[in-house]
Amino acid sequence: MNTSREHWGSRLGFVMAAAGSAVGLGNIWRFPYTAGENGGGAFLLIYLAIVAVFGVSLLLAEVLIGRSTQRNPVGALARLGGRWWSLVGLLGVLTGFVILSFYVVVAGWTVAYIGFAASGALSSTDPATLGALFQAFVGSFWSPLLYALFFMVLVALTVSGGVARGIERANKVLMPLLFLLLLALVAHALTLDGSGAGVAFLLQPDFSKVTGATFSAALAQAFFSLSLGMGCMLTYGSYLSAHDRLGVATTSIISLDVLAAILAGLAIMPVVFAFGFNPEAGAGLTFITLPAAFAAMPGGAYIGPLFFLLLTVAALTSAISILEPAISFLTDERGWTRRRTVFVCAAVCLLLSVPSSLSMGAVDGLTLVGRSFFDAMDFAATNVMMPLGALLTAVFVGWVWGAGALNALSDGRPIAWWARAWLFVLRFVAPPALLLIFLQSTGVL
Ligand code: PFF
Repeated sequence: MNTSREHWGSRLGFVMAAAGSAVGLGNIWRFPYTAGENGGGAFLLIYLAIVAVFGVSLLLAEVLIGRSTQRNPVGALARLGGRWWSLVGLLGVLTGFVILSFYVVVAGWTVAYIGFAASGALSSTDPATLGALFQAFVGSFWSPLLYALFFMVLVALTVSGGVARGIERANKVLMPLLFLLLLALVAHALTLDGSGAGVAFLLQPDFSKVTGATFSAALAQAFFSLSLGMGCMLTYGSYLSAHDRLGVATTSIISLDVLAAILAGLAIMPVVFAFGFNPEAGAGLTFITLPAAFAAMPGGAYIGPLFFLLLTVAALTSAISILEPAISFLTDERGWTRRRTVFVCAAVCLLLSVPSSLSMGAVDGLTLVGRSFFDAMDFAATNVMMPLGALLTAVFVGWVWGAGALNALSDGRPIAWWARAWLFVLRFVAPPALLLIFLQSTGVL
């Protein structure tokens, strides 16, 4: 074992960092509009069920692989399963680059929008005007690229500080700040006249909108939101010491992630409904509909910048973690220094983010398989690579590692019933269900 491997300063530090990874643009930007497009409360229920069965099992599986092997995704799977399985780890490392290529673009927008909101540039209540402004901004050449660069520099600086002194320390400050901001926004949203309709939309199930696609949307959202299927949680788990207990830690991470998604919905939907806007506005909900509602709202001039600050903080703690599998792979297996690795990986991510950003309107024809480059990266990572990574991880832990995984989880104590239930899910429930939903979301079925 590599004895000089870095570790978290404390188990709480790990929980904060892993929750920081999980809670991100996925919860605050994507969850509310995905719920909006898929039937509100009905989507929420399906989402919760998927998180409870697949989310919990896979999170535990990933963290356990990391904790037991004390290695990066590639080295960990090579050690437990041999050469072929290590390719699953490599798939995860590559997925990280694909995710970051569009993630930093959106994160750059959130940074820009703090300034726009604070300067009063968003003070129109007309979604059409704000839509045009959004299009003009994201469709311009340099500006979004410079914001993405700025954001990437923040990420690189944090990650190069190391596990305990960089990642853990940043999360210990930023995560409490994030929840405070979120709670303040929810409290404000719930005092608005007419906010009840927004709450009802989010919490009251309308099953008439449920189709097969609802399930695949919920599954993709769950994995994206919990940072699963790409070795990120595995890598964070590898910075635990070999006998740290996992039960409470993993349940806390899941609970914080679900809580953040629901709170984000409660901060956004009441505002959208109170001012008569459309909750199904899709990806523009955060950048177009919500600013219009802020402009119509007393105190909106303060709430707007705070909201975009919240998004930036959430994006930062997640982006840090998306980079980490690649960093730990190159430092573990190739012996690179952390600084050099961070520099190279950040540069590669930035290069990949250029076509993503430019495909939002600045340059015509930046398309892949019929989608804009940005959408193609998002689809490839969220609907193909992460579910596939999760499926292969479940098969690996269930069937290849099997009894070894149970022993590792029990850590010398008698094997508990819930540990057996966990292995049963990974063996018999997760693979067919994930395969089915994967085929559906990639359009094969
Ligand atoms: N979970 C993050 C979010 O919801 O925004 C995104 C993410 C982070 C995906 C880390 C994957 C990952 F490894």
